[in-house]
Formats: sequence, C-alpha cells, structure tokens
Amino acid sequence: MEEENKEANMKHSYNFSPLFILLLLHLFFIPSTCVYNSITDSYSDYSFTPSVNYLIDCGSSFKTQLQDGRIFKSDRETTSFLSTTEDIQISVDSLNLMNLSHSSALPLYETARVFTEDTTYTFYISQMGRLWIRLYFFPLPNPTYNLSSSVFSVHTDHFVLLHEFSQSNNDSLVFKEYLVNVSYHRFSLKFKPKKNSFAFINAIEIVSAPDILVWDSAIQVTPPLKKFDGLMNSALQVSYRINVGGPMITPGNDTLSRTWESDVPYNIFPQGSVSVSVPDKRIKYSQTSDFIVTPLIAPNSIYATCVKMEDPRVMQPNFNLSWMVNVEERYSYLIRMHFCDIVSRRLDELYFNVYLNGIECVSALDLSYETKALSTAYYMDFVIGSSNITNGTIVIQVGPTNHKQDISNAILNGFEVMKMSNSADSLDGFFSVDGEYKGPSLTTKLMKLVAIIGFSFAVISLLLLGVMYVKWLRSPLCLEERKNFFSWLLPLHSKCNISCSIYSNKYDSPKSKHGGGHSIHHSPRRGSKRFFHFIELQRATGNFDEKKVLGVGGFGKVYLGTMDDGRRVAIKRGSGSSGQGMNEFITELNMLSKLRHRHLVSLVGFCDENSEMVLVYDYVSNGPFRSHLYGSNISPLSWEKRLEICIGAARGLHYLHTGASQSIIHRDVKTTNILLDENYVAKVADFGLSKTIHDKAQISTAVKGSFGYLDPEYFKSQQLTQKSDIYSFGVVLFEVLCARPVICSTLPLEQANLADWVVKQHKSGMLHKAVDPRIANTINPESYKVFVQLGVKCLSERSVDRPSMGDVLWNLEHAYQIQIASPHVDNTISKAFQNANESDINNDNSHGVTRNEHNRINSGSLVFSQIDNFQGR
Ligand SMILES: *[C@@H]1O[C@H](CO)[C@@H](O)[C@H](O)[C@H]1NC(C)=O
Ligand SMILES: *[C@@H]1O[C@H](CO)[C@@H](O)[C@H](O)[C@H]1NC(C)=O
Repeated sequence: MEEENKEANMKHSYNFSPLFILLLLHLFFIPSTCVYNSITDSYSDYSFTPSVNYLIDCGSSFKTQLQDGRIFKSDRETTSFLSTTEDIQISVDSLNLMNLSHSSALPLYETARVFTEDTTYTFYISQMGRLWIRLYFFPLPNPTYNLSSSVFSVHTDHFVLLHEFSQSNNDSLVFKEYLVNVSYHRFSLKFKPKKNSFAFINAIEIVSAPDILVWDSAIQVTPPLKKFDGLMNSALQVSYRINVGGPMITPGNDTLSRTWESDVPYNIFPQGSVSVSVPDKRIKYSQTSDFIVTPLIAPNSIYATCVKMEDPRVMQPNFNLSWMVNVEERYSYLIRMHFCDIVSRRLDELYFNVYLNGIECVSALDLSYETKALSTAYYMDFVIGSSNITNGTIVIQVGPTNHKQDISNAILNGFEVMKMSNSADSLDGFFSVDGEYKGPSLTTKLMKLVAIIGFSFAVISLLLLGVMYVKWLRSPLCLEERKNFFSWLLPLHSKCNISCSIYSNKYDSPKSKHGGGHSIHHSPRRGSKRFFHFIELQRATGNFDEKKVLGVGGFGKVYLGTMDDGRRVAIKRGSGSSGQGMNEFITELNMLSKLRHRHLVSLVGFCDENSEMVLVYDYVSNGPFRSHLYGSNISPLSWEKRLEICIGAARGLHYLHTGASQSIIHRDVKTTNILLDENYVAKVADFGLSKTIHDKAQISTAVKGSFGYLDPEYFKSQQLTQKSDIYSFGVVLFEVLCARPVICSTLPLEQANLADWVVKQHKSGMLHKAVDPRIANTINPESYKVFVQLGVKCLSERSVDRPSMGDVLWNLEHAYQIQIASPHVDNTISKAFQNANESDINNDNSHGVTRNEHNRINSGSLVFSQIDNFQGR
C-alpha cells in the first residue's frame, strides 16, 4: 500500500526536473525494495546462476573449457539451434598473434563457422529479462573463404546489432557485448551475409543477466537534468567497462564473467591522479532499503581500487580528474559510474562534483550520505543524449567542490559506457531489422531543400547585381561615385563594432549601466535556470489567484502554479518595490543559481519582466516543517521522522557552510523555512537573507533574522558567523522536541521564549516534561539525551562553545541510530524520568553567563521598537 502511494507520488513529481539526487534516490527506491527479498533468498551468497546459459564455440568439433571454468559447447552439440544444415568449419591449430592483449578467451577464436546464406540460431529462453549476447569474431586465414573480406549483419528479433559488418583487420580479436531485454520464450540471433558475401562467427554467449543489473531509469544529462525512463526498451552495447586505478579484471574474477579494462589508456590527466587500493575484502555492499548494490553490479575488486587527486593538500587542487573515451556520434549512451569511498578516514570528508562532457551532473556528491559508511559500494547511472556528444568523445570528470575546504578531493572507482539503440532499434546504423531506413531523412531532405533555395537566391541576386553594376557603369554619375563603390559596406561594419561594444559593456558592468536602478542583469544562462515570461506565470497561477496562495514569505506571496506541461511549481512574487524585497530577490536568485543540493529547495527559474520580480521553485508538496509539528491538525510525525528531517536540514545547512564554492550563512533558519517534499525529505528554503563569506570568517552586518531564532551574540556584536545559524538550528531542534512556537506570548513570561525556557528546564532537570506529549513515550531515552545535549550546546551563549554543522549532523545521526536500533523500548523517556531526576542522567555543562539580557530582548516585543537596525521577519 505504501509502495503504491510512493509510486503514485513518483509519477506526479517526476515531471519536475532538476533535483537530481532526490531523483536518484527515488529511482532506486522502488525497484530495489521490490527485488530485495528475491536477492537475499535466492542469491544469499551473491553468486548468480544464470537460468539461460548458452555458450557455443562455433566451428569447433570439441567442447572448449576456458581458464575461468566455463565450458563452451561444440558445433555438433548445438546444431539443433541452427536453421541451416550447411556446415562450414574453419580452424587453426593455434593463434599466434603479435600485440594481442592476453585474452583469456583465446581458444574460442581458434575456430569459426561460416554461413553463406541467412542463418538463424534459435534459443529457448526459460526466464525472460535481460540477456547478455557476447559475440567473438576473428578472421582466421583460410584458402577458400577470405574472412577478412566478408560483409554481413547480425540481428536479434527486434534489434540490429551489426549492420554490414566487416573485419578487415586480421590482427585483432573483436569482442562485442550486448544487453538485450527479452520478453518471449524464443530468442533468435540472425546472421545475414551481404549479397555475394558470407558471414562468420567464432563463438556465441547467450546468458541471462540479473534483474538488478540495469533498471529502467537513469538521470538524463541534458541540462536541466531530468529522469530518463525506458532503458528496458533499448538494447545496450557495452562500449567500455573500466576498472579505475586498478588492473584488468578477467571474467574468472567477475561474478558475471565480465571483463574490466584498466583506466590507464583513458586517463587524460594522469599527472593529477594517484591510484589507491585497499584489500578486496574490506569492501561492503549497501543493504539499505532504498539502494542495493551487490557484487553483481561490480565485484569487490572494482570498488577496492580508485583514482584520487594527487596530494590535494599540497598542490593547488583546482583541477578535475578526467577520462576520455571515443564513441560513435548520433547515439545516446548510458554511463554508469562506480564510487566507493576508500580514501577518507572519517565520514563526511569527501564531496566532489561529477561532470559528463562538461555538464555538471552531480554537485557535491556525498558518498557518506548515500552509503552511510566508508568503503561501501555505490553507483550512479546517467544517460547522455546524442546532442551532447561532439567530436565523438565522452569525457568523464570528477573534481573538487570547494578548493577552500581543507580537504578537497575527488574519486572514481570504475565506469561503464553503454551505447543505446536508436530510433531504428539499431546499434549500428539507421536500418531496422526489416531493412527499412529510419534515419533522420526528413531533416536531410529539408536541409537539401533549404540549400537549393538558398543557392537559387544567391544566383539570382548575383545576376541582378551584375545587371545593376553594368547599368551603373554606363551611367554619367559613375566617375564620382566609383571611388566610393565599396564604401557602403563600411558603415555596416563600424555600426556593428559600436553596438557590440555597447552590448558587452552592458554585460560586463550592469551596475554602472543601471546605476541605482533595480534592473537585473541576466546573462542568457544563469546557471541552468530558466527565464520565464510574466504571462506564462500568470497563466500558471490563474492570474495570481488568491486561492492559490501557499504562504507569505519574507518578500512576497508564494503561489502554487501549474505550468503548461502539467508540472507544479511554487511561484514567489515580490511585493511592490520595497528595497528589502528587491535585495532579497537578488540575493536569493544569486544564491540559488549557484547551489544545488538534495536538501535545498531548488530554483526552476525566474522572471524580472515589467518590474515584476518572480522566482519559480520546485513545488515542495508537504509544506513547512512547522505545520507538521503544531498549529494544524496534521497527524504528528514520529520521532524517527523528525530526526530524519532534522538530519536532512542539517545536511542542507552543512552544504551551505562548507560544501559550496563559498561559505554561505543562511541567517534565517527556522521551521517555516524547512520544507518537506512528498516523501518528507527536508529542503531548506528562503535564501533572501543569506550572506556569502569570502575570506574573513565573520562579517559585520545589520542584524536580520526572525524573532525567537536570533543568535544573541550576533545581536549584540553584529558580527555574523556560521555559528548564528547553529544557534537558530538549536531553537529548531527544541521546537521539534517540544512542538510549540518559539515565541508564545500567551504563556507566562518565563516560558514565552522557547530557547531560554528549555535551557532553564534542562538545568533544573525538568525538560522531559516539555517534550511533545504525543510522542514522548516513543522516544528512546538515549536518543533523547544525545539530542538534548546537542540542542543545548547549539544554544550556547558564546558562539565558540557551539558545535559546527558537521558535529550537529554527526550527533543527529547518532541520536537517529540509537532510536532506530531499539524503537520499541519499554524504557521510554516518560518512564525513564518518572522517578529519577533528569539531571541525574545528564552530565550537563552548565552555562555561567546569565541569559537575562537575551531574555528581555527576545520575549518582549516592545524592546524591539527601540532598536532600529533590526529587521525582524
Ligand atoms: C583472479 O585474481 C587473482 C588475484 O587477484 C589472480 O591471481 C587470478 O589469476 C585471477 N583469475 C583470473 C581467472 O583472472
Ligand atoms: C571541471 O570540469 C568542469 C566541466 O568540464 C568545469 O566546468 C570545471 O571548471 C572544472 N573544474 C576545475 C577545478 O577545473
């Protein structure tokens, strides 16, 4: 039931594009949970016995056993699969080739079978799903059949694998590997010689592949990133399978008899690379419910080696590790990257960006978060469209997210590049299996047409010009004007120069051009964000219908909008021309254009037409965290869920503080700025007050923030540091624990301000009485203790005493782990504290400094009216 809901949610939400990590999570969530049981049951030791396993050594009179133990059947044993009685076998005693990579399959190439007419192998498929098709070709010397001159095609029932293939190079072994989804019990492989030619084959493998190997979805790398569906419908051809930082892995050492090449020939920046390896047995495979990696995805030996950046502490670590492979243009490719953090000593030390052909496809990939442990296998699938492949190459890059961080590094453990079948269901050309041409005919015809028309115009204009010139030569004005004949061209040029320079000035220094005015300079592409026309947004919101208002934010109302393609967005429209609104608009636009993270709300685009300021976000359907805590009749969230949400928000803030290229202070952390998506994943929102810290660790600024969340030290000193966010986050933690407003003027004065009150309650050991009564008896007391101690530390008077966001994250994870380890303890906090005083189990470090001053400031709104540089929200 829950699965169904999630699936339904997915369908809706996936019209949304850019939140790629979120997407990834979902991507694997459903399929993996569905097959999880089957994996643990039937392949408990992760060995895989293919239910379909046809191995044929064509042209051989005997069985052939390879070093890895696999036995290939002889021709005689496999004639029943063949549609022909023709029996032409070719063999050599032994292959003696120079420059051969030590192929462990060498014996298979020593014999071949020749077909002079169309020939079909037909196999019975006991279990449907993906099949490996592996074909071995080598043109053996033969007096009758010159194999290196043969031309032929190879088809399956639906796909063209090879079209007019010929192997003229008789020095190299050719191995082709495909992955095809089969949904019938009968599967055929056809060899079709070209007219007057013949076909040959040395060996065939038809072997079932595990279901978990490739899902239907991946991340499509065409900015903006979106979900790609339909991998099941395309045939895949393995172009490259690379073990990064390690040796070649032969079929005998791979669970699925795959071959993995070394990355050395493809690494285009070896001087920046260092190979790292750990013992294979250290590699763990993820068992979480939302993501499964087993040795079937890739064996330990792939994950146990990687390439990392050359001593990133010493060198200027501002480069990417890069690999380049040659591919065929006009095809899309599935690219799988394998990651496993074998380089960090602790969790949360490694963040890096991932690029494909220069397109950023993951910003700040956080393996600690994805796998929850070090040395744990992880992979990601991307589809790169043919339009993003130029020069016939794919460049895979990983690079540091932030070179100012004290440790910046990036790793890659392996990658696979798989060609995807095209619209003609072909992996080789544009002819489908029935020989029909399904290529881009229309466009070429059109282009020809355009070219013809263009050419005719050119000819006609030339003729006309010629006629005019002749007439003009004959006219009496000719002599005076002749010297200026070409001068008419000049103004055009100079005009162009002038306008270009104006243009570039405008782009270089928008401020000087527009002075104090508020016109926003938008370069054609602001990150990958879109520019919307106001009219589109009017249409999306029913002309900003009041009924569509989702909430009122710092700088205007937020509306629910539905775009023309059905996608739902949140549209924030700036109110009027207030100076603060304008600044916040620009700040938020600038911040969000640079940031992308699973736990930050993502900006789809913006509009600054007709002095309107509108920001368009992904719609986060479950709204603000606060409304799930109190003040509405939404059923209360469990303690686990609350912890998960706090962890998510903390991750978002941690990314702001450390992960982005510059350190960012949010300045308005509160439960209404933490939004929850349809799966209750936290998204930090509202960057209108955020500040970027460039070099100094603190900045002096007018105090801004929200009542009840404001850091008292910042308030007094006006020195902004990241620790101000920590304070506000501490208030959030207690709001989560106690489920009450941070300022509640109806309560007695000493209780009105949540932050002050909880600190006092904690000191006197009475805090447990303030816990949200709806969940108090489900909280594990140990988890509670960790949480409360963290919260109190965040609220420390002096910012130096407060933890960093990384510590906050660690402690929250800890509290979460305790809670999920024993969620149904009898010993919940209400019982634990029934007799004992809470302070008995709290080793509280009490705070010497009096909080009275802060108390007065935060609990009495009158005080604020006298402080004029405070802008509360
Ligand atoms: C498998 O790996 C081991 C050690 O890594 C190596 O000695 C052995 O030759 C490999 N086997 C095959 C069949 O490649
Ligand atoms: C890494 O590569 C990407 C894409 O090619 C590029 O945008 C980025 O600037 C590079 N980073 C560094 C540090 O060179």
